[in-house]
Amino acid sequence: MSIIQVDQLTKTFHRPIRGTGALGAIRDLINRRYEEKTAVDRISFTIERGEIVGYLGPNGAGKSTSIKMLVGILVPTSGEVRVDGVIPYKNRKENASKIGVVFGQRSQLWWDIPVSETFELMKYMYNIPTADFKRNIELFTDVLGIQDFMHVAVRQLSLGQRMRADLCAALLHNPSIVYLDEPTIGLDVVVKKKIREFLLEVNALRQTTILLTTHDMSDVEKLCSRVIIINNGRKMFDGDLERLKSDYSADETMILHVDHDEIGFDGNISHLGVTDFTYHPESGSILLRYDKRHAKPASILAWFMERTVVHDFEIKPAEVEDVIRDIYQDSTSCELGEVQ
Ligand SMILES: Nc1ncnc2c1ncn2[C@@H]1O[C@H](COP(=O)(O)OP(=O)(O)OP(=O)(O)O)[C@@H](O)[C@H]1O
Ligand SMILES: [Mg+2]
Repeated sequence: MSIIQVDQLTKTFHRPIRGTGALGAIRDLINRRYEEKTAVDRISFTIERGEIVGYLGPNGAGKSTSIKMLVGILVPTSGEVRVDGVIPYKNRKENASKIGVVFGQRSQLWWDIPVSETFELMKYMYNIPTADFKRNIELFTDVLGIQDFMHVAVRQLSLGQRMRADLCAALLHNPSIVYLDEPTIGLDVVVKKKIREFLLEVNALRQTTILLTTHDMSDVEKLCSRVIIINNGRKMFDGDLERLKSDYSADETMILHVDHDEIGFDGNISHLGVTDFTYHPESGSILLRYDKRHAKPASILAWFMERTVVHDFEIKPAEVEDVIRDIYQDSTSCELGEVQ
């Protein structure tokens, strides 16, 4: 049985519509009006034990709202969510013992006490056996380098230190599922790397299932074999990263390394299906972008070889970042991408 089962999950918020100015405020008092916002709209998916899944979408897509329903903080308006056999908002205590959560925007730690004492409190709260606790502290210290600030009060930590401490706290009780909502936001590359290594290690050691939201595509490339993309509360894509690239990335870039002196054509190459063309005389390279559904790389190459000396060439598929940006922008892909 899948560890996470989400079926037609929906969350609608009722937001008060506020009038402007003093008159508006008075009107609001007498006649409060509400608008409906469906933040999560009939989303379904399942996640298997041990998977690391990227839950992606632009700002306001409904990612955090989905995670809050999975965690049990929010009650769905309709649809079902089941995590390791438990309905999170109904069995909050049982659910809490199985999951770890990090909201990157907000710390779960006690502000005034040192990190080490926070961990002791966690040990007590979750009833963590002393041997497991010690083993975890050792592992976490090793991979995340938290020893330097173990005795510092949480409020005195830098963002990167605080995030590492938050991650440790979320994982101390060996949860089988971890939800990470933007765990690398605002961090420098060194800390990001540490966090990614840590997550991969925990996942490999313990088969921990990880659901991760992030706006950093290198997190996705380094960690996730599968991605779910949502936009306006609807699921648009669910599949592996490689398939995302091959199904959706129509754009390719060809780089030609040419003889500096011999380039002598007028640049009118739209008939080849090229959408973007730049010549860099300093490196002797020509960059060509095209939609591979409408252009033939072999014809482009042949056309250039007839006109200049081509020493070498490379073809680069679109980066995952470009692909995802195209999906976010293309509202019609909602229908195109509704695939499991
Ligand atoms: N408590 C709430 N009351 C009313 N509307 C809400 C509430 N929480 C979220 N929303 C709305 O639901 C939509 C989805 O918000 P959500 O926080 O889930 O987005 P997100 O995908 O996490 O975005 P981001 O990448 O910016 O974190 C937004 O339009 C937001 O304004
Ligand atoms: Mg969010």
